[in-house]
Amino acid sequence: MFRARRSVLYMPGANERALEKAKTLEADSLILDLEDSVAPDAKAEARAKVAAAVKAGGFGRRELVIRINGLDTPWGVEDLKMAAEVNPDAILVPKVARPGDIVNVSKIHVGMGGTEKTRMWAMMETPMAIFNVREIASVHQVARLSCFVLGTNDLLKESRALATGGRFAILPWLSMTLLAARAYGLDVIDGVYNDFRDEQGFRAECEQGRTLGMDGKTLIHPGQIAACNEMFSPAPEEVAWAHKIIDAFTLPENAAKGVITVDGKMVERLHLAMAERVAAIAEAIS
Ligand code: COA
Ligand code: MG
Repeated sequence: MFRARRSVLYMPGANERALEKAKTLEADSLILDLEDSVAPDAKAEARAKVAAAVKAGGFGRRELVIRINGLDTPWGVEDLKMAAEVNPDAILVPKVARPGDIVNVSKIHVGMGGTEKTRMWAMMETPMAIFNVREIASVHQVARLSCFVLGTNDLLKESRALATGGRFAILPWLSMTLLAARAYGLDVIDGVYNDFRDEQGFRAECEQGRTLGMDGKTLIHPGQIAACNEMFSPAPEEVAWAHKIIDAFTLPENAAKGVITVDGKMVERLHLAMAERVAAIAEAIS
């Protein structure tokens, strides 16, 4: 079954109101954050709130992801222990730099009694991560890694690049992450758009992300969800075209053909595979 990850909303784990509100929001996935949106003094409280929220459930079909602190911080091990107890859909590991980082978290998680059904997601947000992105993707099986999340604010900080419109400086890193992910069959979620009241700018960045091949975008505010879902859903024309291709290849006279003509355009079996994916996405979000 195809899993839509168009809109992936972060919320601070210490913010009980946000955790509650999330149950009514149309986001495909929720990241309950224990890391950078939680102040050091609030870490233990946030961990307890996230544990209680995940245990209590009520999030419907929304995918639940817990972002832990790094294992090299005073909170990471306790965060992972909690995640091993409450079994979220995924654990998001911050500041992954090398393949060993994600393998390590995955092994410790299972050692703590966590289920192998919980997938690992990796933040790609440091210069070293971008250099190692292919090697990190390559350990997906042993690490149960299924998704990369771009940490564009951290990439800007670490690189000292400027946050200009169009994301000129960081585009190559986004593309490298995308290509490495696809080489190993992983999903990629684009970074956040900080100016959450600017819908026009947000839509433009969604469009750019989708053009690059991103599966969805991480969000910081509920007000970004509707536009994000729209921008990362196939357009009605796209879905109609996909069905036209599927129908054309279903005709008996085309059963043995590798290439056919649909509406005057060349269509190959690779286009059929793409069409089937679009149809599956449309079905999953309907
Ligand atoms: N998830 C769920 N609910 C959220 C939310 C989020 N990320 N951000 C805001 N809300 C809720 C608020 O609790 C409020 O709910 P209410 O109407 O029931 O009181 C409502 O949406 C409106 O919030 P608003 O007043 O517009 O925003 P704010 O000024 O309270 O908060 C931020 C603004 C940016 C601080 C807040 O959106 C936030 O914390 N975002 C996530 C930050 C984060 O997790 N960063 C880490 C990764 S980059
Ligand atoms: Mg970060």
